[in-house]
Amino acid sequence: MKIKDYTTAPGHWLLARMGKRVLRPGGRSLTQFLLSELAISPATDIVEFAPGLGFTASLALKQQPQSYVGIDTDKEVINMLKQKLHGTHIRFLTANAGATVLEAESKDKVFGEAMLTMQNDSRKKEIVQEAYRILKKGGLYAIHELALRDTDEKLEKEIRKQLATVIQVNARPLRQEEWETLLKDAGFMIRKVTTNEMYLLEKKRIVEDEGWLRSIRIVFNIMIHPNARKRVSAMRKTFRTYQKNIHAIAIIAEKTE
Ligand SMILES: C[S@@+](CC[C@H](N)C(=O)[O-])C[C@H]1O[C@@H](n2cnc3c(N)ncnc32)[C@H](O)[C@@H]1O
Repeated sequence: MKIKDYTTAPGHWLLARMGKRVLRPGGRSLTQFLLSELAISPATDIVEFAPGLGFTASLALKQQPQSYVGIDTDKEVINMLKQKLHGTHIRFLTANAGATVLEAESKDKVFGEAMLTMQNDSRKKEIVQEAYRILKKGGLYAIHELALRDTDEKLEKEIRKQLATVIQVNARPLRQEEWETLLKDAGFMIRKVTTNEMYLLEKKRIVEDEGWLRSIRIVFNIMIHPNARKRVSAMRKTFRTYQKNIHAIAIIAEKTE
């Protein structure tokens, strides 16, 4: 991703520019949980909301789905993905996941990571309703997002404000029960929920997610860009401050009717 100014770039693109490929809060392991629950096979038509750098898209495509559609609002992302991943059964569209123009009841599995958290309440609803609309009966919708725990209203407000300041994105994580309600209100049945610590910028998780070689490269890139270094340490400080109150969540929901 092209970055004009390290001080104002969205946190995820800043980290991507430093070489980070895994940009979701629960890391590779929660992504693997999500993919194994989705059980993608050559008979499945799948849709990914907000593929970003295409990390999960690449893993999902290894399962050789019948078709894959990736939908992201960022044209630059879509152009990069079109060059990186191609095939007759693969499509990438620049669109809002809340209004995909895909045919109703045409897909078996829909998934999206680290993308609902950054939407306001009405946009969150729109996106979840759109997943419901395009899924066939019996289809699954999987999400992997940031969640709040052990918080009260005052602390939630403080966390949102602090996250918005350091990652320069209006992050609005929900409590587990609020994520579940969001899905249930759209008509989904909750099938499985799992959580994981939010260790996105902790050494152990970076190595787990990226491997040693890439981790060294990421650290090197951060060291040689002072403005990026300031941003990354502010993000890590905030994540550590609220370690007890933010975590990652993955939910598998089913369209039963
Ligand atoms: C934090 S990145 C996550 C990317 C990827 N899912 C991952 O976990 O690595 C957020 C992505 O969501 C995309 N995005 C944000 N709002 C969107 C929306 N309403 N519809 C589709 N994509 C959206 C952004 O363009 C960006 O690629």
